[in-house]
Amino acid sequence: MNTHEPIVYLNGEFVALNNAHVSVLDRGFIFGDGVYEVIPAYGKHLFRLQHHLERLNNNLKAIQIKNPLSSNDWQLLIEQLIIKNNFNNQSVYLQITRGVAPRDHNFPHQENPTVFMMTSALEKQSVDIANNGVHAVSLPDNRWQNCHIKSISLLPNVLLRQQALDKGAVEAILIRDGMATEGAASNLFIVLDDCLITPPKGPLLLPGVTRDLVVELAIKKNTCLKEQTITEDDLNNAQEIWLTSSTKEILPVTKLNDKSVSSGKPGSHWHEMMADYQHYIQTLEQSS
Ligand code: PDD
Repeated sequence: MNTHEPIVYLNGEFVALNNAHVSVLDRGFIFGDGVYEVIPAYGKHLFRLQHHLERLNNNLKAIQIKNPLSSNDWQLLIEQLIIKNNFNNQSVYLQITRGVAPRDHNFPHQENPTVFMMTSALEKQSVDIANNGVHAVSLPDNRWQNCHIKSISLLPNVLLRQQALDKGAVEAILIRDGMATEGAASNLFIVLDDCLITPPKGPLLLPGVTRDLVVELAIKKNTCLKEQTITEDDLNNAQEIWLTSSTKEILPVTKLNDKSVSSGKPGSHWHEMMADYQHYIQTLEQSS
């Protein structure tokens, strides 16, 4: 097999991307009926795999699909997938849908989930971002009430992200009932009065694996940390704003809507946390 051709996993087989086909009756295609994960791999070492698999398991339970694989089997398959592909740092995308069935909102009688995995190059954060940060805009959070489920039905997130891009920003920070919840595809942290704040987990945001690591690193350092709601006022008055995700790590937001955040440069708390975060990744890369 040509090693430069992306290899994906579909329903029990590793195949070239061009040979991976799913029926148009797949409920993922018809209803967006499925869940997904994005798992980073640094130098082929999987980042917080057990956390991602645990969230996947919770999500499958939440939408009543039986997990088709054990944690061990997931690990073996994901490890094989990243070895079969050439990128050094990778972003593994994994999707499970309720499978192929005649179109009917009711769950099909027989469960036959579709399992798909692919991987792509994971870009490290650019020097420009470390120097200048990024621009975000706040937008009304018009998603559903189960944002803790990593659903593949991402139309609201897609529209919100595009609205942000159309305003010259890279991400939307979502506001529901006067509270900032998270980004269109990221979790939210702010620094206010030198204390790091992130909204508590619950149905209105995704329990991010990156978020949890940032919380862990802050606790380890004895940094002032509060898991509490962030009002729109808090957001507008924040000393620093960060957005976290598996693919973007910790993004410093230096402009919110039309206003600079503090000096308009990534702040000292971000620099400190980012150093700890990179140290965590280096330790992972050096592990056997
Ligand atoms: N998205 N909130 C939302 C709505 C997300 O879609 C994501 C990640 C996160 C951060 O979660 P984590 O730290 O586990 O990546 C928060 C992925 C990266 C995506 O959809 O591509």
